Amino acid sequence: MNTFDAIFSRKSVRHFQYEKLEWDVISDILEYANSLPLLIEGIAIEFKLVSNIEANQGFNNPFSVRAPYYICISSENKEDYLLNAGYLMQQLNLYITAKGLGTCFVLSGPGRGLKASMKYEYVIALAFGKTVSSPYRDSSKAKRLPESDVVVYKEEVTPDIKQIINAARLAPSAYNSQPWRFVVYKNRIHIFTKKNSFLAKALDYNKMIDMGIMLANLLLASEELWVDTSLTKSDTLKNKLFQNNEYVCTVIIG
Ligand SMILES: Cc1cc2nc3c(=O)[nH]c(=O)nc-3n(C[C@H](O)[C@H](O)[C@H](O)COP(=O)(O)O)c2cc1C
Repeated sequence: MNTFDAIFSRKSVRHFQYEKLEWDVISDILEYANSLPLLIEGIAIEFKLVSNIEANQGFNNPFSVRAPYYICISSENKEDYLLNAGYLMQQLNLYITAKGLGTCFVLSGPGRGLKASMKYEYVIALAFGKTVSSPYRDSSKAKRLPESDVVVYKEEVTPDIKQIINAARLAPSAYNSQPWRFVVYKNRIHIFTKKNSFLAKALDYNKMIDMGIMLANLLLASEELWVDTSLTKSDTLKNKLFQNNEYVCTVIIG
């Protein structure tokens, strides 16, 4: 299984075996993390591995997913840093999944001491480890909004572009909120995020992490299917006020 296959077969895992992983496996994951290209250049980040096997180092909050290992990302707080962090963490998520291990993103904090030990601002963690049951499921079993709720096709597109959109829609999101919306043409995909109500503004933080996670799926699928893409932002769309959605970026195809 490669990371592309993992997009379609992964699921969040919340029950782990408290068993040590071989050091080779851990060091390979860290090496992969540190080799990932950034989505947005010029944002310093750091990955931090936390093992709760021998000593409890964090994530003791009763609402946290309990796992033997966590990998955390901290980042400089600059424009689009949450998008960048989500993008990196999802690639790591798929890489770890492809190794046969279970994963789950964790919102509830790592604890004050652990946070303070991070180089930059803590963003999000990914719990991982050996699982009790299979970390895989068929993509048809994933609970996702119907395509017609999140995608508008403005033109007839190729099956590859449909597959890329499908990969994007399968991305995990906090509370499975799926904040992404797509306007698709033959040669570009405009990406929007659903506006939260005034009361749900607190969810805006997770939303941009979710959008980065989704972008990782979208760009990885494009690469796998040999569809050339580049990311840009349209000034016109950026400055336009939409009632229910906010513009994020455009993926140029070809
Ligand atoms: C940014 C983010 C934070 C998440 N935080 C938690 C969490 O704190 N606890 C939890 O059980 N699941 C968490 N999840 C997992 C989501 O609930 C899950 O991805 C979503 O319900 C879709 O299910 P699936 O991943 O099995 O496809 C998180 C997911 C994301 C992307």
